[in-house]
Amino acid sequence: MWTPPPRWRGRPSSCLEWTLSQRERRHDHAAGRLEIIPVEGLPEFRPGDDLTGAIAAAARWLRSGDVLVVTSKVVSKIEGRLIRVPTDPEERDAARRELVEREAVHVLARFGRTLITQNRIGVVQAASGVDGSNVAGNEIALLPADPDASALALRNGLRERLGVEVAVIITDTMGRAWRVGQIDAAIGASGLKVLHSYEGKVDGQGNELQVTEIAVADELAAAADLVKGKLGAVPVAVVRGMSFVDDGSQARDLVRPAAEDMFRMGTAEAIAQGRREAVPLRRSVRRFTAEPVDPDTLRRSIGAALTAPAPHHSKPVRFVWLRDRGLRRKLLEAMRESWRADLRGDGFTDEQIAKRIGRGDILFEAPEVVLPFLTPEGAHTYPDDRRNDCERTMFTVAGGAAVQSLLIALAAEGLGSCWIGSTIFAADLAREVLGLAPEWRPLGAVAVGHPEEPATPRQPLTEGLLEL
Ligand SMILES: Cc1cc2nc3c(=O)[nH]c(=O)nc-3n(C[C@H](O)[C@H](O)[C@H](O)COP(=O)(O)O)c2cc1C
Repeated sequence: MWTPPPRWRGRPSSCLEWTLSQRERRHDHAAGRLEIIPVEGLPEFRPGDDLTGAIAAAARWLRSGDVLVVTSKVVSKIEGRLIRVPTDPEERDAARRELVEREAVHVLARFGRTLITQNRIGVVQAASGVDGSNVAGNEIALLPADPDASALALRNGLRERLGVEVAVIITDTMGRAWRVGQIDAAIGASGLKVLHSYEGKVDGQGNELQVTEIAVADELAAAADLVKGKLGAVPVAVVRGMSFVDDGSQARDLVRPAAEDMFRMGTAEAIAQGRREAVPLRRSVRRFTAEPVDPDTLRRSIGAALTAPAPHHSKPVRFVWLRDRGLRRKLLEAMRESWRADLRGDGFTDEQIAKRIGRGDILFEAPEVVLPFLTPEGAHTYPDDRRNDCERTMFTVAGGAAVQSLLIALAAEGLGSCWIGSTIFAADLAREVLGLAPEWRPLGAVAVGHPEEPATPRQPLTEGLLEL
């Protein structure tokens, strides 16, 4: 059983009905009842034809308050947006493809032969709205240059000729993200509020609507298509029964701003960009936020890093994740003392020593610290020192590859990191404090956390490349 919301309880039922049907509906975009009437008897349009005059003649019955819905193709035709192309199917297709690229401001995705683009009027759709249907075999239609202006001109023209105040919507057919099938949407509009926001409104059950915003102009465009169709030479229909206000909005207000667009790129393009940026996104991050690092993300990054190449199919790298804060402090303080002693021995002043040692604070402060080590596991031994040295170098560079892989994996996860060399200079101490075997060679320490500044990929460098 339906229970009235608290604010309605205790009122007589007639009052309730009134409340629903009148008061609430006033805030609703829905019309009580709609009629969609085709405008029949329109001629085939050619560049320069008088569309307004033809509609005025064919729809003398237009009334103020009607919404005139016009297929963009006829607007393109009268505005001379027809391009001559060869009739040969292959050449025609090649010309069409060229036009698609030309009309595109951004290519968002390529899916097989389909190109999803943002065109000059901001609309994201397949093939930049370039279309070979309902035109002669040697022509291809581009979208109207400024459909909002075309809608306004048509509206003004109909006011002049018939003395009616109508709203005008210019439509094109397009697909939708996540849904199969196309519908007509508004690419030009004049004379009506194209969006109806329900933000802050309360439904019949007392729930406040927060994000609902109805694209009324698109709904009207789609509804009118049910009458116009694609084959019947009915490019114009009239929706009667809508109550609307003119707030000066236009179809361009229906284009989602790029910053709010979840589909700015196709999936394949987004993946390709992510791959391309994985390496240049890494940089030494020395300032982190207090946000904790997700343990699974860190484990995943370390796991990826451990796939780095190593000689003889060996697995010589170990990452020690210093989760115990006490142990981390103990190690860092011990290393600091040893460093201080080294610097004193080098003749540095206390002030110089304090300055140098301060640079190591990052490891005390970083949300997480990971210590990379190299084990001799899998290394070959030779009868001579030269080859043993080479083997050691091979394993050292493999260690570097794994650490760099970790830094890249972290960057790809949105985490910042900085590779600090200090444990390399305090190898015995590190092994002793952590209780590790003498053959484990420390490769520094990696500070990990959420970067204070958002990361942007750097430009790849060219110096350092020799092409012989
Ligand atoms: C083996 C190694 C040791 C490093 N040690 C330190 C260090 O002790 N302190 C530090 O702030 N940065 C250290 N770095 C980071 C470098 O300073 C940094 O990579 C360099 O300045 C280039 O900047 P980028 O990493 O943002 O490209 C080290 C880097 C490597 C590869």
